[in-house]
Amino acid sequence: MLVRVLFAALFLNCKCANITIGRNQRGHQNLIKCITSTIKEYFTTGSSVAYVDMNPDDDELLRGLHSTATVPLVLRLPTARLPVSNSGYLITARTVEAFCNGFKDMLRDFKWNPSARILIVIKSLKQFELKTIFDVLLKQHVINVVVVNGTDDALLYTYNPFDHYGCGRNYKHVEALGPCLQTDTNLFPNKLVTGLRNCTLRASVPHRPPFAINPARVKKGTKMGAEQYALQLITEPEEIKVKYTYDFDFETYTTITPDSEIDGPLDKLNKGEADVMFGSAMVVLSRIEAFTFITGYLDVNDEILFLVKRSENVPAWKVLYLVFQPSFSWISLNIRFLLADQPNGPK
Ligand SMILES: *[C@@H]1O[C@H](CO)[C@@H](O)[C@H](O)[C@H]1NC(C)=O
Ligand SMILES: *[C@@H]1O[C@H](CO)[C@@H](O)[C@H](O)[C@H]1NC(C)=O
Ligand SMILES: *[C@@H]1O[C@H](CO)[C@@H](O)[C@H](O)[C@H]1NC(C)=O
Repeated sequence: MLVRVLFAALFLNCKCANITIGRNQRGHQNLIKCITSTIKEYFTTGSSVAYVDMNPDDDELLRGLHSTATVPLVLRLPTARLPVSNSGYLITARTVEAFCNGFKDMLRDFKWNPSARILIVIKSLKQFELKTIFDVLLKQHVINVVVVNGTDDALLYTYNPFDHYGCGRNYKHVEALGPCLQTDTNLFPNKLVTGLRNCTLRASVPHRPPFAINPARVKKGTKMGAEQYALQLITEPEEIKVKYTYDFDFETYTTITPDSEIDGPLDKLNKGEADVMFGSAMVVLSRIEAFTFITGYLDVNDEILFLVKRSENVPAWKVLYLVFQPSFSWISLNIRFLLADQPNGPK
């Protein structure tokens, strides 16, 4: 089925500095209590939770989680490819560097879900590494995330790139939420408090009348394609601005490999060069998995059909006769005669 769609942003590559730190102490009862209670409180809605273990020589946490057994956990390695989607991820890593490398592998997974709730436990986390980790998360559009310092204090950190009209592109600071067992803050609030108000979306469109029009290439008349108009209808009430570039070659189709490598124009979204793209593409499974899209006006889902019975073949001479078919015509004539006989009936 060919539909016209608007695509929106998704994955990028993970670039991390090499940071290596020694191992940490044992016996983290508070940390385990913190993680199990967080999982219990915030991860019970939706489908299964993936436990991505980037630190396979430590099963203390796994044992702790297993004994509480409140949420179905799918234990997996970062490189695993499982045909299940996850509504939550618990990721444990020894260092920020190990996290970054494992995270790069996770992004290759077809079922990777950047809007899931994510709890990241780093066994050894220094203050200056917070920026490294949140920069990586920002680039991948991971918003619902809490980072835990994997010591017994279990200090919690998060960020909000939509705060202060950040438009999901930058954040002012990392928020320290304090020791896990003492905090009563909502760890996974709705972060889109100011929405995208006052943000500028970078839209990449082809010149393809009547769907999208590059005003520089039309002499007079319409300056905007139907799809641009559709986007305007969505963005204007929300006070979102749109900046157009006309560099999208719509004759080249985008392909996506099983490793989520993207080749073709839609890679602009992948590289963060565009926020929105207009175009037509076959909605095959790989594109559905890799992109978020708004279906457009040629979508066959929104169709009204009138089914009319085909008339039967009749010889021409019968047409006149059919007009006086007994059923309706004669009955209505009879009624008229009856009514005409009444003193006050129609004359
Ligand atoms: C990280 O370390 C590895 C091996 O020590 C090295 O090959 C790689 O270039 C380093 N990466 C960065 C970004 O420094
Ligand atoms: C994590 O905890 C250790 C030990 O208490 C501390 O030295 C380190 O600064 C903490 N890191 C962060 C980012 O809070
Ligand atoms: C949004 O932008 C307009 C015009 O640039 C400005 O007047 C207004 O204060 C901005 N609103 C916010 C909430 O930043």
